[in-house]
Amino acid sequence: MQSLGIPLALIVVAVSRSSCWAREMLPATRESCRNVPGSLGYPAIAAWNEFNGTISGRLVAVVPSAKFCRTLPGGACTDAQWSSGLFRSAIPGAMDQVNFEQGYDLTPPSLCLRNAKICGQGDVPIYSVEAETVADIQAAVKFATKHDLRVAVKSSGHDTLGRSTAPGSLLIRTTSFRTLTFTDSFYIGAKDIGSAVTMGSGVHSQTLYQQAKINRRAVLGPGAAATVCVAGGFVQGAGHSPLSPKLGLAADNAFEFDIVVASGELLKVNSISHSDLFYALRGGGSGSWGVIVSATFRTFPTFNATFASIALAASNDTAANALATIHAQHIFDMDSVRASHSFILSKNAATGGSTVALVIYLPDTTTAKSMALVGPFMHAALAVPGISLLSQNYSYVDINDPLFQSDDNTGGNGVLGSRLIPAQTYHNSPAKVGQVYEQLLNSGTTNIIEVVVAGGKVAENANISSAVHPAWRTAKAHLILANGWLDSASLAEIDVLRKKFKTQQLPILELISGPNAGSYSNEADVLEAEFPTTFFGQNYAKLSAIKAKYDPADLFIVGAGVGSERWDEWGICQV
Ligand SMILES: Cc1cc2nc3c(=O)[nH]c(=O)nc-3n(C[C@H](O)[C@H](O)[C@H](O)COP(=O)(O)OP(=O)(O)OC[C@H]3O[C@@H](n4cnc5c(N)ncnc54)[C@H](O)[C@@H]3O)c2cc1C
Ligand SMILES: *[C@@H]1O[C@H](CO)[C@@H](O)[C@H](O)[C@H]1NC(C)=O
Ligand SMILES: *[C@@H]1O[C@H](CO)[C@@H](O)[C@H](O)[C@H]1NC(C)=O
Ligand SMILES: *[C@@H]1O[C@H](CO)[C@@H](O)[C@H](O)[C@H]1NC(C)=O
Ligand SMILES: *[C@@H]1O[C@H](CO)[C@@H](O)[C@H](O)[C@H]1NC(C)=O
Ligand SMILES: *[C@@H]1O[C@H](CO)[C@@H](O)[C@H](O)[C@H]1NC(C)=O
Repeated sequence: MQSLGIPLALIVVAVSRSSCWAREMLPATRESCRNVPGSLGYPAIAAWNEFNGTISGRLVAVVPSAKFCRTLPGGACTDAQWSSGLFRSAIPGAMDQVNFEQGYDLTPPSLCLRNAKICGQGDVPIYSVEAETVADIQAAVKFATKHDLRVAVKSSGHDTLGRSTAPGSLLIRTTSFRTLTFTDSFYIGAKDIGSAVTMGSGVHSQTLYQQAKINRRAVLGPGAAATVCVAGGFVQGAGHSPLSPKLGLAADNAFEFDIVVASGELLKVNSISHSDLFYALRGGGSGSWGVIVSATFRTFPTFNATFASIALAASNDTAANALATIHAQHIFDMDSVRASHSFILSKNAATGGSTVALVIYLPDTTTAKSMALVGPFMHAALAVPGISLLSQNYSYVDINDPLFQSDDNTGGNGVLGSRLIPAQTYHNSPAKVGQVYEQLLNSGTTNIIEVVVAGGKVAENANISSAVHPAWRTAKAHLILANGWLDSASLAEIDVLRKKFKTQQLPILELISGPNAGSYSNEADVLEAEFPTTFFGQNYAKLSAIKAKYDPADLFIVGAGVGSERWDEWGICQV
């Protein structure tokens, strides 16, 4: 059941087919463009070598993961390596969803598919600074500024919008920042604000949970993920956790950041020092503010929980409608214990039936009480013809045990689209939720992931001053649609799938989210038309002003991020 909580694991893992584009072109060189290979202002080899000397030889040439695999003994990655998040996190050019390594939109397209004989550079950077010290990061930021280079920042490569890679760029990779320290007393100025954990931006969620267990603490990290970096992209988006209804979002519990900003300065950012940047780093969008070295979060005493995984089958789309409606009717049943859960539907296009995986965390609740809380939903669901129980398992465990994952399932092609669904929708019109499921399934959707992590402490934290989208405070769930493809898909088919959320699925989803509703920027569609309001709501103007102050030259630009409206798709030319 491990992978059931992982949205992207549902995206089919690509099987290979060779394909090759040898020549490739980045956008035209203009005054308003950054320097890319071939531009007049692009550094010569001698300048790169000199720079490499200043960072202890930590500059590496970057290649797409498929090309990297060919340099291994045997000339290939095994299937296990290809799909391992841990393995991928050691490859500078790798993204977990390999479609983000592809330059579909370049002219001509530049691809590097698994086992391809010839590879283009695609959307991966040219060089990476494999940073080990703050000075390495500072040197990279200054070199990029001096030569007007496109910068990309990466910790894990998990990003579901592809924001940690960019063509023609200099990558700054923080994977080596792995320090992790728990304390009973963390100080902001002279004030002890309590127990905390400080972690480097390269610390994987599996390490965090493992160490939290040893230290008998509970922390806010991702559900069902091994290699997400909590102090990297996770917290900058907001960071929802299976513990959020009980303890709030990760951003709600962030105390401090150490970050290198565009000037090259290392800043200590908290409620009393650079408090405007502190506001932005908590929900203002991943990758737009600088290079985070480390972050500090509140910790809580550990606790036990019932962890339940239940698999149900729905024989057709009508039965899936009924199941999603019953789920919506019972979505508040476990609120008394501040439980969270995921309701993950996968349609089998061949049979027309669907399976639903429910993954539930019930803090401080025995298995007997948990079964009683889940019971009314189960009774109602199993009374419907066409809905059946495949398996169920309840266990009472240390909360860090089910949060720990040994690896992530990666290496496929896929994109997401999403909306935060208001609690009001479930209160007022649960049947509409089922209808939306049926319409989505009828129109070819195969993966619907409802992450029920809002309400409770997330709602109660509404008065915290941060860039977290206000829609989080009135939502009950984040609903994600995943659209995946195999390497054998044609460019035309891929184009349709990349635009499917915007053109086909969003109009249906808006029946329950409402128009102009919020979405969680870390699990979303990079092509959102109105990304400032969709991802940042009324906070966008304030975020733009903070961006102008700390990054006046737009060194840190990511797709659908603050300031990106001024740049082309690649962040290379101003528009
Ligand atoms: C299996 C899986 C499970 C997930 N589960 C959850 C979940 O439960 N809750 C949730 O909220 N999200 C979840 N996510 C989404 C996750 O929050 C995002 O993918 C997030 O962007 C990952 O951050 P990263 O740093 O690990 O990834 P990366 O791809 O390395 O980076 C993501 C973004 O952060 C920026 N960034 C990375 N490192 C730094 C740094 N050191 N300084 C500044 N910017 C940096 C990048 O530029 C990019 O914009 C999940 C994702 C996956 C793949
Ligand atoms: C940087 O220097 C190191 C050590 O000398 C060397 O191994 C590496 O290849 C150099 N990087 C590049 C891109 O030339
Ligand atoms: C969790 O449960 C175990 C076994 O029942 C028990 O020994 C332990 O004290 C509990 N831990 C907490 C924090 O309640
Ligand atoms: C869906 O399945 C149910 C239960 O098996 C059945 O009664 C119903 O006729 C089916 N609907 C369609 C449209 O096939
Ligand atoms: C039930 O879940 C527990 C804890 O996650 C696991 O150890 C056990 O193997 C599972 N049992 C079955 C039958 O799947
Ligand atoms: C927010 O409100 C809660 C009570 O609902 C209060 O305890 C807390 O101090 C408030 N926080 C802020 C930042 O105003």
